[in-house]
Amino acid sequence: MTLLQVMAADNAADVRVRTTDDTVIAAELAAHGITFEHWPVLDDATATSSDDLLAHYADRVAELNASGRYKHIDIARIHPDDANPEWPAIAKGAREKFLNEHRHAEDEVRYFAAGRGCFYLHLGDEVHAVVCEGGDLLSVPAGTLHWFDMGTRPDFIAIRFFEEEDGWIGDFTGDRISEGFPTLDELLTAP
Ligand SMILES: [Fe+2]
Repeated sequence: MTLLQVMAADNAADVRVRTTDDTVIAAELAAHGITFEHWPVLDDATATSSDDLLAHYADRVAELNASGRYKHIDIARIHPDDANPEWPAIAKGAREKFLNEHRHAEDEVRYFAAGRGCFYLHLGDEVHAVVCEGGDLLSVPAGTLHWFDMGTRPDFIAIRFFEEEDGWIGDFTGDRISEGFPTLDELLTAP
């Protein structure tokens, strides 16, 4: 379920928008200079190799990267592995990495080929929580304050677009704002 929930930055209980309508989500985000698109999804992405996924999306990727600004395009994937005793620690470690507010020196561009994750965009006096699912592309502009929650059971495949090799490095603000907002798990179970 792709979802946008807009809340007051100083009071997460003040929900100003909650919608699952793709068109509304794209328009709300476009008003803030944020690109949100939906590409047709490949049904068996989880069983598809990363190379085959990149080949499948080659035309879309080429279109998005027509200017050639993205020098590094790769695939990040994480799936629950309950047979692995290390999985809970792996999941926790992966999740906590970007759970605090930060920004990047370049745009953070992600296409979700499968699964889900939630970007929280701190835009002025509001926080826009965007739950992205398979088929969703989101581009967080450079300098935008944000955090990301992959949930307690991380499960996604994302194509990542980087301008620089170290483009993923986060500049953490030290603000604990994210702690006052519903997690991805909570957003999905909210009425
Ligand atoms: Fe980020």
